[in-house]
Amino acid sequence: MARTLLGTPVVLWRADDGRLLAARDRCPHRWAQLSKGTVTGGRLVCPYHGWQFGPDGAVVEIPQLEEGATLPPACLQLLPATEALGMAWISLEPQPLAPVPAIAEFEDTSFDRIEVGVIRYRTSAAAIIDNNTDSTHIAFVHSGSFGADQDPQVEVGSVERTSFGISISYPEMPIARTPTSQQPGTRWSVTEMWLPFVQVGRMHYSDGSTHILVKGCCPVDDDVTDVHLAVLRNDLAGTADRQTIIDFELAVELEDKAVLETLPAAFPLDPRLQTHTRHDRPGIAYRHALSEFLADLS
Ligand code: FES
Ligand SMILES: [Fe+2]
Repeated sequence: MARTLLGTPVVLWRADDGRLLAARDRCPHRWAQLSKGTVTGGRLVCPYHGWQFGPDGAVVEIPQLEEGATLPPACLQLLPATEALGMAWISLEPQPLAPVPAIAEFEDTSFDRIEVGVIRYRTSAAAIIDNNTDSTHIAFVHSGSFGADQDPQVEVGSVERTSFGISISYPEMPIARTPTSQQPGTRWSVTEMWLPFVQVGRMHYSDGSTHILVKGCCPVDDDVTDVHLAVLRNDLAGTADRQTIIDFELAVELEDKAVLETLPAAFPLDPRLQTHTRHDRPGIAYRHALSEFLADLS
């Protein structure tokens, strides 16, 4: 599988034991793209001259050489890779700069997981997270979906810094329908932004339903982002029409995408560059948190 992370082409494959492996997508021989090759018995086989690489990245066979020949010390640049939350997590650094978010509900059998898919945005990952800190766009951007009855005068989210980034809370408020009863009820929510680019949003309804939106925003490049979207819900009881949920979530993403792709590519980390109201506090907190995260790297 080929992916691009921060402008760097990456190849992913599985070792014999099923383990996820990742490396820079370039053969050390003549720099062919390894992701165009094949996997045989857990070995990654280059499409150009058929060199084979083992799970530690070292070349283990060169078909042009006779058996027992000494092989050159060719080795792939393996990257840390792990599977969690139904997604692959890769680091271009030898040590990942941030942890994979902890989401206890992934292990909780009362929650069903729906993989919505991957949505490619032509904008920065930071702009997508910023959009998700912001509930004031809902009445406008999502007027064609869940924002139809939304009063523009929404509550201001309270925001706190956490060890992983920021957490934005909205107090319990009345809603016209709950997911299972279709009767009036209430909802409260907490959205976690795990630095740099992962959102875990939890919505709790008075009928006992909890919906969790997990968005892993993979920065393909400075201005292209793949949003890996999954939903966890405890109210499906194996009966709901999953495709309806997927279609709904995709429609919402496309509404955001249409606006976000009109923003300039460079995300403004400095809050002084834009104008804000008190509703924008979560977005400002995200800018500060991301700035500090980036400053710690240098
Ligand atoms: S370029 Fe990969 S084997 Fe030659
Ligand atoms: Fe939105």
